[in-house]
Amino acid sequence: MDAKRLTKARSAFADRNPQSRRQYDEARKYLPGGHTRTVLTHAPFPLTFAAGDHSWLYDVDGHTYIDMLGDYTAGLLGHGDSRVLDAVEAALRTNASVGGIHPAESRLARLMCERFHLDRVRFTNSGSEANLMALTTALQATGRSKVMVFRGGYHGGLLYFASGTAPWNVPYDFIVAPFNDAAQTSVLIAEHGHSLAAVVMEPMLGSGGCIPADAAFAQRVFADAHAVGAVFIADEVMTSRHGRTGMFALLGVKPDIVTFGKYIGGGFSFGAFGGGAELLDQFDTSPESGRTKVLAHAGTFNNNIASMTAGCVVLGEVFTADTAVAHMTRGDEFRRSVSSVLARSGLPVCVSGFGSMMSLHALAKTPRNADDVARRDVALQELLFLGLLERGVYSAARGMMNLSLTLTDDQLAQVLDALQEALAALRDA
Ligand SMILES: Cc1ncc(COP(=O)(O)O)c(C=O)c1O
Repeated sequence: MDAKRLTKARSAFADRNPQSRRQYDEARKYLPGGHTRTVLTHAPFPLTFAAGDHSWLYDVDGHTYIDMLGDYTAGLLGHGDSRVLDAVEAALRTNASVGGIHPAESRLARLMCERFHLDRVRFTNSGSEANLMALTTALQATGRSKVMVFRGGYHGGLLYFASGTAPWNVPYDFIVAPFNDAAQTSVLIAEHGHSLAAVVMEPMLGSGGCIPADAAFAQRVFADAHAVGAVFIADEVMTSRHGRTGMFALLGVKPDIVTFGKYIGGGFSFGAFGGGAELLDQFDTSPESGRTKVLAHAGTFNNNIASMTAGCVVLGEVFTADTAVAHMTRGDEFRRSVSSVLARSGLPVCVSGFGSMMSLHALAKTPRNADDVARRDVALQELLFLGLLERGVYSAARGMMNLSLTLTDDQLAQVLDALQEALAALRDA
């Protein structure tokens, strides 16, 4: 796609969104880049939203969008779920939780242990923190220093492996293995086995382009990690929405530690890591434990009443295991429809994903790893994103779409129409 077309599309976007531009220019005076989430950056500037309602978003220029991003999976419930908001409001008004224990914390812990088949769980403020704590758990349990991750993986702001290990990452001794390449990964595990503390893996590269792991790959990595005594950490921060107990279970793997985040907080900040008693009870500081060596895990807001209460409503009432299965099926069906629209366009575009998470790619062939994703036609990718915005569909600049529970069939049909129109406009240009 030619650069002229991109310039034209960007300037049409800027013309349509003068208030967002104003907000952005003002924000940039105080916030480097105009915001605090790098992922939101795109040319010419990101939109500013004034409100949201179920699966609708309203920007400050008065445009209405169908929210197909679902806040990068955190917005599974859509906007303004009254069950969560009422419960949180009541809890904040009545529970003096500052600096103490309250029942919602253990209630949510029980819900999580039962749902995700964990012995124990601990809460954090974000998925990033959950992964850092999971790593600490593994490093301390094994007394080893190395951590295997996968190219294209993302486990938090300081655990970023889009193309190797980022210079701003936490200074662990990382081995970066190729995703969906069992043979190469086995070689690396064997090579570093005696010093390998943990293997950290997403069952589907989320930020890396919604690329599911092959079941055989996931199972082999798990077996190889165990064979050398390393802890297998499953990053299900995005993917625990799939199936009854998260996506690794669907791949036939039972991880040692699982990390969580995003939607479970119902819109409030959330993270958790859980697993077997042997690993997690390193944090048992109770007098009853009789342990001589214990690990500390502090955090002022770890058990904050808003997140704990919201989590109880999310897992206990809204997103039950049955709902999770139905939502996954709905996502699979919608992705098949997207795939047909893309195929009919005659352009080099495809979709990857699993269940209710997916990503559009300006690629002729569905990617299997980060190297494939890096070959995308970046101009076409951006034009498609801008074309969807122009037609009232909000997705991620990098192509990600995540279905929320509030999307109606009618809205999904509108998204398919918008996609078809956007592609036709690009093809005819
Ligand atoms: C797989 C995965 N792990 C961890 C994180 C980090 O979670 P948080 O943004 O809550 O720190 C993310 C966030 O996108 C993620 O996608």
